[in-house]
Amino acid sequence: MVPSTGYNKTRTAVFISGTGSNLKSLIKFSRTAKSPISIDFVISNKPKAKGLNYAKKFKIKKKVLNFKNKNLSEKRLLSILKINNIDMICLAGFMKILSGNFIKKFKGKILNIHPSLLPKYKGLNTHERALKNKEKYSGCTVHFVNSRLDSGKIILQKKVKISKKETETSLAKKILAQEHKLYPRAILKVFNL
Ligand code: GRF
Repeated sequence: MVPSTGYNKTRTAVFISGTGSNLKSLIKFSRTAKSPISIDFVISNKPKAKGLNYAKKFKIKKKVLNFKNKNLSEKRLLSILKINNIDMICLAGFMKILSGNFIKKFKGKILNIHPSLLPKYKGLNTHERALKNKEKYSGCTVHFVNSRLDSGKIILQKKVKISKKETETSLAKKILAQEHKLYPRAILKVFNL
């Protein structure tokens, strides 16, 4: 049985676009006693994102906003977050870029996880580029979100060794497993725990 979320934890929304394996690991973490956050909302820009099933499974409110009109979607988003007293945002595989105006409203309260050792390989196709450049290591980074893509202050990183036979798929799998551990650790660090 999963214990219900506490009342004095920081109310957090997770934004996703896809599988949601980081969402799942964050939900599990949030329901442990040591977690300073509770996950109270899931936002997806894709109606078919697999990760939305975790919202259903763990009985967390969810909303799909397609971001076709970014201005309008962000307006709706801000009002949903306000109504639900959300005070922190974790981006977890969210494939839309939030506007500077939105980020300002949650200054210092939006975190993101990225599958590379930032500042290396910002943006997409990180594993493909790391392999092409014959990197010996790659990894993942949890950082604060600012208005420049994948450029906010780094909170924590985890290095992963790239083996001789590494493929994009095997590297993605290896790094994703580390992401699931790193995101909760980064949250504890943000709260000085
Ligand atoms: C992760 O690799 C994350 O670093 C990147 O997108 C992927 C999302 O995976 N931003 P999931 O949806 O959490 O499984």
